[in-house]
Amino acid sequence: MTRKALLIGIGPGGPDQLTVEAVRALNEVDVFLVADKEAAAGREGTGDLVALREEICRRHITGNNYRIVTVPDPPRDRAPVADHGYGRQVRDWHAARARAYTDAIVKHTRPDEVLGFLVWGDPSLYDSTIRVVERIRSCGVDLDYQVIPGVSSVQLLAARHRIVLNRIGGPITVTTGRRLGTDVARGADTLVVFLDGCLSCAELPGAGWDIWWGANLGTASEELVAGRLGEVMDAIRAARKRAKAAQGWVMDVYLLRRAAVS
Ligand SMILES: C[S@@+](CC[C@H](N)C(=O)[O-])C[C@H]1O[C@@H](n2cnc3c(N)ncnc32)[C@H](O)[C@@H]1O
Repeated sequence: MTRKALLIGIGPGGPDQLTVEAVRALNEVDVFLVADKEAAAGREGTGDLVALREEICRRHITGNNYRIVTVPDPPRDRAPVADHGYGRQVRDWHAARARAYTDAIVKHTRPDEVLGFLVWGDPSLYDSTIRVVERIRSCGVDLDYQVIPGVSSVQLLAARHRIVLNRIGGPITVTTGRRLGTDVARGADTLVVFLDGCLSCAELPGAGWDIWWGANLGTASEELVAGRLGEVMDAIRAARKRAKAAQGWVMDVYLLRRAAVS
C-alpha cells in the first residue's frame, strides 16, 4: 500500500500565519513526524520549536485524533569547509535524517495512516524536508506526498516593513550569510539573506547599504530594525539579544539593498 504524506508549510512561527489550505491539510494527518533537534544535539532552545509546532496542532486541528512522533535529529557536522565540502556535509546529514525518519515510519506508523511533516515557513526555501522525503522514498518506503506552501519569513519581513523586495522590474538574490560576501562581490545589489546568525552584513565593504531586518517574525518576541547599515548595526545586535532572551531562540532574516546615490 502506498503511504500518503503531507508536507505542510506552517509559516515562520506564529500560530496565526497558516493558510486555510494548511489548516485543512493538518486536519487530514494521522501522525506528525517532528524532528527533535534538542534531544539529539543538546541544542538549547530548540525544544521550544517542537512546543510551537504542538501548539499549532492544538490550535488548528479539530479534536485530538492524531499522534506526534518525535524523531531525534542526527547531529550535524558543522566544521567549516569549502563550498563543495559543505554540499557533501549537508547531503550526508540529509541521508542520516532520512534513515531516522524511515525507522520512525516503519516502527511507529501504519501504512494506511496519513503522515504529516510540519515545515517551518515555506518548504521551498532553505528547508530539507522535500529532499529528505525523496530520500525516504529511495530507502524503499512506498510513499506519495504533496507539498502545501506556507508563508515564508521573508514574506513576513516584507509585510512588517511594508516594503517591496525588488526595485521596479529588478532582480533579487536570495542567499545565506555564508555566501553574502561572494554574492556582493559578484555584483548583487538587492539581497534577501537567510541563516546569518553571525550578521555577516556587518563585514560588507562600503557604507552604501540599506537594511530591513527582522527577528522571530510572527511571534511575541518579534523585533524589527531598518535603516542605513552602518548606522543600525548596534540596534540590530541589541534587538537580536532581546529576541533570544524573550523566546529562548532567535532567527533573523533581512533585505539588503545598495542605497541609491543622491
Ligand atoms: C532553515 S531556514 C528556514 C526558512 C523557512 N523555510 C522560511 O520559509 O522562512 C531558517 C532561516 O529562516 C529565517 N527565519 C525563519 N523563521 C524566521 C522568523 N520567524 N523570523 C525571522 N527569520 C526567520 C532565518 O534566516 C533562519 O535562519
